[in-house]
Amino acid sequence: MLLRTPTRARVVLVSAAIPTQKFTSEKQFPTLTVKTQQAVKILTVVGARPNFMKAAPIIRALRAHNAAGRTPRFQHLLVHTGQHYDAIMSDRFFADLELPEPDLHLGVGSGSHAEQTAEILRKFEEALRQEQPDVVIVVGDVNSTLACALAVAKFSANTSKRRPLLAHVEAGLRSFDREMPEEVNRVLTDHMADLLFVTEESGITNLRHEGIPASKVLFVGNTMIDSLLRFREKAQASSILQNLGLRETQNGLSGSPKNYALLTLHRPSNVDALESFRDILEGLSDLTRQIPVIFPVHPRTRRRIEEFGLQEYFSAPSPSSGIRLIDPLGYVDFVGIMQDARLVLTDSGGIQEETTCLGVPCVTLRENTERPVTVKRGTNVIGGTSSAGIRQAIAHQLARTVTPCVPEMWDGKAAERIVARLTHLVESESPVPVSE
Ligand code: UD1
Repeated sequence: MLLRTPTRARVVLVSAAIPTQKFTSEKQFPTLTVKTQQAVKILTVVGARPNFMKAAPIIRALRAHNAAGRTPRFQHLLVHTGQHYDAIMSDRFFADLELPEPDLHLGVGSGSHAEQTAEILRKFEEALRQEQPDVVIVVGDVNSTLACALAVAKFSANTSKRRPLLAHVEAGLRSFDREMPEEVNRVLTDHMADLLFVTEESGITNLRHEGIPASKVLFVGNTMIDSLLRFREKAQASSILQNLGLRETQNGLSGSPKNYALLTLHRPSNVDALESFRDILEGLSDLTRQIPVIFPVHPRTRRRIEEFGLQEYFSAPSPSSGIRLIDPLGYVDFVGIMQDARLVLTDSGGIQEETTCLGVPCVTLRENTERPVTVKRGTNVIGGTSSAGIRQAIAHQLARTVTPCVPEMWDGKAAERIVARLTHLVESESPVPVSE
């Protein structure tokens, strides 16, 4: 028995009866038939840092739908797997993003990928049995995404209950690099999902090439950008730049931000081997002589710096140069520091999208990206992981004049489109065709 965490407010269960669901064949549209007056029970999963900002707008849109008295009524439960558990990797994001407390916390924690995935799979199956949702929403590409998707896909095999519909938010992204754990998570989750919500056009093409029926796929935009647009003003008001001495204050008035760069690095392929990590740091050396580089450090990366004895790269930051290590930041402070940066250097996926939307030049410290729209239309360049490639990409970005160009449907309304689609599933027996 999983204990529900105490909640501040929860949507009331309208009826105890289990809805009748109708699953259609692969070629047809997924539909969900629920008796009148019955709430549709939706369970959204979050686990790791990049999930929180993708899930928050969906929860807000479901609540707005209910508050407006629209039908069907949604009963929503939030499940936290516990993949990320520290205050700075998890709790602070709940406060910043105004997320409700999780209704269920699986308390899984760290482990090898197999251990972590298996533990989430086992515990989430128990949650499914206990809660009997109609729809499960998973977001992004972390181990929690895959494990919970798999639990849903296998649910009917050992119970008499029908399995819930599985919705994947941020479907279709592909780096075509199967060495990347997230790529395996993306491909497998997409192939199990009933509803695939896509953030950029490449996602539609990738899913078509993999034989996923177009009827399951909907291009809705990007819920991570919904969060960015919602909290941008709050981020502007954050005191992070003053606190770090990156914005002067005179007579209580804020001056212009200083010329600085922002760095994030946490991918195992970049930081878990000494040579790769050192190559990247060497690639930054020209830049760090010119402007200060602020580096909020992921716990994994901090451990590697100590293990590999790389402290010399961070030993002498000054207000005008060097790399300055700081603790990981919350959402609002991170957006605050990102939007005024001269340049962002990252191996994260989401930051490539956020910098594109903000019009901030970005160098991706990887050999590929699963988010090609950020390079084709946005401000991102792929710098690779060799020192020479990184130096070249930085020089290119510093010399470039950026013309901001926000990708299609990154307009802050992705979550509304997702909720509209969920509504439509229930209301109509013959849904309208979705984009090819
Ligand atoms: C995970 C995601 C990655 C995402 C990243 C954001 C997968 C496969 N990877 O990687 O896609 O970009 O989150 O951070 O799901 N740790 C803590 N405190 C925490 C969480 C983790 O100290 O709250 C430490 C643990 O020692 C752990 C290590 O960080 O072993 C890595 O955490 P893990 O969740 O395994 O992967 P991430 O590298 O964070």
